[in-house]
Amino acid sequence: MGEDTRRGPVTGRMWVTLIAIGLVASAIGIALGLSLRWFPAQGSTIAHKIDTFWDVLIIVSVPIFVGVVTMVLFSIWRWRQRPGEELLDGPPIHGNTKLEVVWTTIPTIIIAGLCAYATVLLLDIQNAPAKGTRVINVTGQQFAWTFSTVENGKKIQTNELYVPVGEPINFKVRSLDVIHDFWVPEWRLKVDAVPGITTGYALTPSKVGNYQVVCAELCGLGHAFMRANVHVLPAAKYAAWVQKVTTPVGAAAVGAASNGSASVDTIGKQLFVAGNPSTGTLACGTCHTMKAAGTSSATGPNLDKFVAQDPASAIREMIVNPNKEIATGFAKGVMPVNIGKTLNKQQIDALTAYIYKSVHRR
Ligand code: CUA
Repeated sequence: MGEDTRRGPVTGRMWVTLIAIGLVASAIGIALGLSLRWFPAQGSTIAHKIDTFWDVLIIVSVPIFVGVVTMVLFSIWRWRQRPGEELLDGPPIHGNTKLEVVWTTIPTIIIAGLCAYATVLLLDIQNAPAKGTRVINVTGQQFAWTFSTVENGKKIQTNELYVPVGEPINFKVRSLDVIHDFWVPEWRLKVDAVPGITTGYALTPSKVGNYQVVCAELCGLGHAFMRANVHVLPAAKYAAWVQKVTTPVGAAAVGAASNGSASVDTIGKQLFVAGNPSTGTLACGTCHTMKAAGTSSATGPNLDKFVAQDPASAIREMIVNPNKEIATGFAKGVMPVNIGKTLNKQQIDALTAYIYKSVHRR
């Protein structure tokens, strides 16, 4: 002691400087943290509560981060090894009980406080919407979402999510294979879709617009593409959509088809080329080449070649169960597995017949 003041205790002056640096850096950090736009626009009635909680987390955690980093940098500077000190050892310290009590107590209080806040917030959010109101079933599977609900006594299944604005919705979330996670960032809430059990949450969308479901749990190669469009509609538009979707595409034409096969052809071609926009069913022609339909994408197998030798039953199986047989050079899990679920039997029949006729025509 005394011979080398550089190794002495931190002086009062140094503490004042350190605290000043810490305060200024914390203020800048908090200002930056609060001014960043972390999340998209608030799209549900509870979104602002989550955002406030986020702000509190920033205000609490930035000073802790700044304090730790300031002390680490200061220590590196003050107690660095200087030339000629290679063989010197530091003073023998056997702990400091007072310091340890302080640095255990303060974090405990902070964490306990944040946990209490989070618990109160969670209970509040869960109780907010009236339970048992509108139920929408959400099913995840590698790598697609399917939504189903009952309107006017009719079951509606879709690949895109349609909800009315301003009404509480009870989402029941399931998975058919691995763990996925149902998340619409604008609504803020998020829950895992776990095979074998039903999870979910209730919330009230508050903003009309188009959003996206994002799978928020790494679930395989197609995870990044496991998204689905969300349409939050005004009540009248939602009612119009329900009306439209509960009336099967080409219902009139299917009726007329009993007279001849021309109309079935029309429905099949329409589904192949344009899909079914009201349920979000993707068109086959988006990914497949088929001369008769005038489509030319190479994302999936060229149907003129791939199914040219197949009977109609095999073609039907490929629509309903696309992962069962995969063409050489193409990957499993790319074709949506839920196409067969969002088309009704007549539509699948028409599509199968259309593809079969088209590839065997030549
Ligand atoms: Cu499903 Cu990630």
